[in-house]
Amino acid sequence: MSDSSTLALRVRDLRKTYDNDVTALKGVTLDVEPGDFFALLGPNGAGKSTLIGIISSLVNLSSGSVEIFGIDLVRERSRAMREIGLVPQEINMNMFETPRDILVNYAGFYGVPRAEALVRADQELERAHLTAKANVMVRTLSGGMKRRLMIARAMMTRPRLLILDEPTAGVDIEIRRDMWTNLREINRAGTTIILTTHYLEEAESLCRNLAIINRGEIIEHGSMRTLLAKLDVEGFLLDVEGDIPATLPAIEGTVLKREDDHTLALEMPRAMDLNSVFNALSDHGIRVRSMRTQSNRLEELFVRLTAGGSMNTLGASA
Ligand SMILES: Nc1ncnc2c1ncn2[C@@H]1O[C@H](COP(=O)(O)OP(=O)(O)O)[C@@H](O)[C@H]1O
Ligand SMILES: [Mg+2]
Repeated sequence: MSDSSTLALRVRDLRKTYDNDVTALKGVTLDVEPGDFFALLGPNGAGKSTLIGIISSLVNLSSGSVEIFGIDLVRERSRAMREIGLVPQEINMNMFETPRDILVNYAGFYGVPRAEALVRADQELERAHLTAKANVMVRTLSGGMKRRLMIARAMMTRPRLLILDEPTAGVDIEIRRDMWTNLREINRAGTTIILTTHYLEEAESLCRNLAIINRGEIIEHGSMRTLLAKLDVEGFLLDVEGDIPATLPAIEGTVLKREDDHTLALEMPRAMDLNSVFNALSDHGIRVRSMRTQSNRLEELFVRLTAGGSMNTLGASA
């Protein structure tokens, strides 16, 4: 494969069972294109951190394969690791060091020569808008600054793939937006980004493509736009009086199917007026006696993802 066609991340049938017999990943297959800003979305316990942990070599896989820019993680672990920058969920920096020292020491740990590390530190401090704070103690930085510094640190090794594990969980909205701007800049400059989150708004705002993971399985994988379109469709089961005619009316924008002799399955855009559908059916001699909503597994997941949260801006249902 030529470089341009090599995926940033290629995961095949990845399985992970922990020592306590918890199976966190049940055969995950995933592709991330170079240059993408990719969301891995899922509720707590879905397996996001396990997947990120395996990709960044913190967790051993049970079976399956992972390639990072074409480099096999098991066969060439240290080479694969060099392509990755990881931003963990928790702030894990020495509060009594300065941002510049943190960046330079981190690069040194990964074998970047000191002179080069100093140059990169200045570049990353600038990109993180922390130049003015380069030599103060980290503990004096605001929450948002500390998060930007974590990202700057991960960028010190010049990774081609930057991975963030719920970087904004429990972080207030201003800090979150601030990080989003920072991440967009990094992505625009060419770094592929994978972000795990359970904030729908975040995935929608930042990411072009996404996968949804639930109970260790990928249940959706594709573009954000396709997903939004899917969520915008509502399903109903209609109980019809008498027999359903052999030919069903075509009602623009809807999909109508016979479930059984007395039941129709209806799919329609959320924004559409249900009355207009009933009228059209009635014009064709179909009387609806009762109806129930048909559950949509994607929608169920999203309800769960947003349960307890104030955010639910995904979809055009606003
Ligand atoms: N080190 C571990 N040992 C045993 N079980 C674990 C470990 N880490 C995670 N798990 C379990 O694996 C499942 C997936 O967890 P995790 O990958 O952390 O999900 P997420 O990041 O999506 O919340 C959960 O059931 C969790 O309890
Ligand atoms: Mg997690």
